[in-house]
Amino acid sequence: MKPYYQIIFTIFAFIFGAVLTTNAQTFADDIHTYAKPNQVRVSHVDLDWTVLFEQKSIKGMATLNIVRTEKNAPLMLDTRDLNIEKIETSANGKTFKPTTFELGTADKILGAPLTVKLPANAKQVRIYYSTNPTASGLQWLEPAQTAGKSQPFMFSQAQAIHARSFIPLQDSPQIRVTYSARVRTPKNLLAVMSAAGNSQTTAKTGDYRFTMNKAIPPYLIAIAVGDLEFKSLGKRTGVYTEPSMMAKASAELTDTEKMVEETEKIYGKYAWGRYDLLVLPPSFPFGGMENPMLTFATPTILAGDKSLVSLVAHELAHSWSGNLVTNATWRDFWLNEGFTTYLERRIIEAVYGVNRREMEATLGKRELINEMSEMSENDQTLHVDLKGRDPDDGLTGVPYEKGALLLRWLEESFGREKFDKFVRGYFAKHSFQSITTETFVDYLQKNLLEVYPNVVSRADVDEWIYKAGLPKNAPNPKSDAFTKVEMQVEGFMSGKTVASALMTKDWTTQEWLHFLRKMPETLSVEKMSELDKAFNFTKIGNSEIAFQWLMMSIKNKYSAADARLEDFLINIGRRKFVRPLFAELAKVDMKRACSIYSKSRSGYHPITQSAVDAIVKCN
Ligand code: BES
Ligand code: ZN
Repeated sequence: MKPYYQIIFTIFAFIFGAVLTTNAQTFADDIHTYAKPNQVRVSHVDLDWTVLFEQKSIKGMATLNIVRTEKNAPLMLDTRDLNIEKIETSANGKTFKPTTFELGTADKILGAPLTVKLPANAKQVRIYYSTNPTASGLQWLEPAQTAGKSQPFMFSQAQAIHARSFIPLQDSPQIRVTYSARVRTPKNLLAVMSAAGNSQTTAKTGDYRFTMNKAIPPYLIAIAVGDLEFKSLGKRTGVYTEPSMMAKASAELTDTEKMVEETEKIYGKYAWGRYDLLVLPPSFPFGGMENPMLTFATPTILAGDKSLVSLVAHELAHSWSGNLVTNATWRDFWLNEGFTTYLERRIIEAVYGVNRREMEATLGKRELINEMSEMSENDQTLHVDLKGRDPDDGLTGVPYEKGALLLRWLEESFGREKFDKFVRGYFAKHSFQSITTETFVDYLQKNLLEVYPNVVSRADVDEWIYKAGLPKNAPNPKSDAFTKVEMQVEGFMSGKTVASALMTKDWTTQEWLHFLRKMPETLSVEKMSELDKAFNFTKIGNSEIAFQWLMMSIKNKYSAADARLEDFLINIGRRKFVRPLFAELAKVDMKRACSIYSKSRSGYHPITQSAVDAIVKCN
């Protein structure tokens, strides 16, 4: 062999060798990370944290295990507002030596890249750091913002790309990691995490240890610290919350174990061991967050009659769709939320019956259609382009409700039995993997469309996923109960029936919501007041109904609800409620929006703050 060929041969052998020996995982392009996982990837995160309430900071170190595919490449990490003190590397996991690093300039959406130089034999990287008080993924609550009013509280919310604001890591959902943590807190507080190790005795030692030995996307790493208690709900289910919230929370959540059982019957074994819930203070910016083993939930679901527990069904469903099978990038977010909304409805059907399922599906579809009427074409597609945008902006009804309708359409087309078998196979095949929309579509084609030919065409599926709007073949949820509600709305609007004479006996939350949403855009103050007198909406405890009523009150300048609106906005920080209320208020009375926001802003989570900052302009 001539030397020239020898060189080529050597290069080829080297490349093939590298590919084979690293059983090369392929990574999709993720525009929301600086990581280069094809070169060096993080596989495990070990945290050693001290939670400092006075400084509103977590201080400590993150030790990362790395898998190196490209010999001389540095480790690329995501960070946001982190103070990096020093970085060390180790070849043996015991002795650590300082290395050099560079923290790049911060991008508004992505944060700053952290480039760590790796010596030839480095297998671990240890970063000494602390978080900034404004970390986008943490909220630090004063005692006054808690139910107990005497202890501070802190919680994290990492989805979509906020993990990087409290851990330097590769913050992409396809770079799965296991994790372990030691957390030191003030002595009288309990730390809980999305991992094994949460204490059921809640003995407060101020020093806690956790392990998550299943590979999860980084957005599922979560922590909360506060004055927490635990109550068991079933053999593997339970609830953590502040002592004064426990009675209300545990009474509301008694169906949790049953939900797990019903989900297992359809979709296969629950993979995570325990399923606990953490009911947070009302500033929690979301309804719920599917942190593995420990769902985080807003207290606004505690309606007193279990009428809002579809949120539990939803977060539980993520234990399959999202946590087992994960969206590879935020572009594929509908794989998480569409599947989960579909599963949520199946769980509701199994536990509460088909009528409740149809009411919720109807509400969901109506909201979707309303929302889409004001959205760009791109945002109406499931495979949404997020270039130049924060993935939090992709958070519309489209991935949820359009995604769920696509799956329901497949169920209706193939029949439940065949479709359920397909979904079980899909979860089993992709467990603990992060996949793209394309991978899903290929799998669908081979395992459903081609197995039962001539039922659904690939073109129809592509229309659902890549085109705007709802296809003509979209399912139509049907609810007889809602038809009756609509008759009452008609009676009231035509003037035939006064509010107090409407037939509303035994109406559920879902019927009341439909009743209010079916009202015309504008209602006279007389009509508003008549409704209020008959049904006491301004004082209603149910958060979803109150929200709906307050939206109507703003639009119709119904000032009798002014005080309740202010109270609601000051005490609740759930973005889904707060953002639309401020948006409506800003349209009709920016001065008032401004005055309320000046009182409520400091109580909001950074995520809610940035949403409202974009709406309420004070000068
Ligand atoms: N995973 C989401 C919450 C989320 C999504 C947070 C994207 C940040 C970025 C969670 O499962 C969810 O969908 N929550 C909903 C409730 C659900 C019943 C629709 C919410 O918070 O409103
Ligand atoms: Zn969800």
